[in-house]
Amino acid sequence: MRLDKFICKSTDLTRNEATLLINAGNVTVNNEVASNEATQVHENNDVLLDEKKLIARASRYILMHKPLGTICSNIDEVYPSLFNYIDVEKADDLHIAGRLDADTTGLVLITDDGRWSFNIITPNKQCEKTYRVGLRNPIAEDAAEKFALGVQLQGEKQLTFPAKLDVVTSNEVLLTITEGKFHQVKRMFSAIGNRVVTLHREQIGNIKLDVEVGKWRFLTPEEIDYFK
Ligand code: URA
Repeated sequence: MRLDKFICKSTDLTRNEATLLINAGNVTVNNEVASNEATQVHENNDVLLDEKKLIARASRYILMHKPLGTICSNIDEVYPSLFNYIDVEKADDLHIAGRLDADTTGLVLITDDGRWSFNIITPNKQCEKTYRVGLRNPIAEDAAEKFALGVQLQGEKQLTFPAKLDVVTSNEVLLTITEGKFHQVKRMFSAIGNRVVTLHREQIGNIKLDVEVGKWRFLTPEEIDYFK
């Protein structure tokens, strides 16, 4: 991880404060002054700030049930940030592994471990995300086949990756995808002439949503390992 991030994870300093101290030459990595905040360090490197050894805090992994009308951003904008619901220290260091739209509800995974969230987000890792989708029009008979083959989204060069559709009722389906393009689910249903009216994420990989709206919990070690 970057040196400035390592210092934030091991002290109460902000990123800016850490950068100032690094640039001023107060930090050594393996006995050498490191004056560039972007220097890459590992948890087992010997990092000293003003000659005091720093130990990075353990990373945090959180599951949350995102309420309707909140946004996956660290600050309030037109809608309130979902971080208003999470009372942990240094919440600014956390980010969301796969954002949801303001009008989407359900499972979000939150962490300060960028490598871990990369495994969830990057399409190459084929991490499955399952959405319960309410539709304006009855689902077409050939929808499952079209999604399995991939559909053309407006403005994209390639077809969507194969996706799995399970029909619950004529106007409610479960869709499992491995990508996370902007408004992906809504655009997939537009591509087959339908319209999403409600959208709720139920599952990411093997992690199922199991807390009430607006509530959160830390992931178990097994859940964390699943994405490592
Ligand atoms: N696809 C969407 O269209 N919106 C979301 O919030 C998530 C997936």
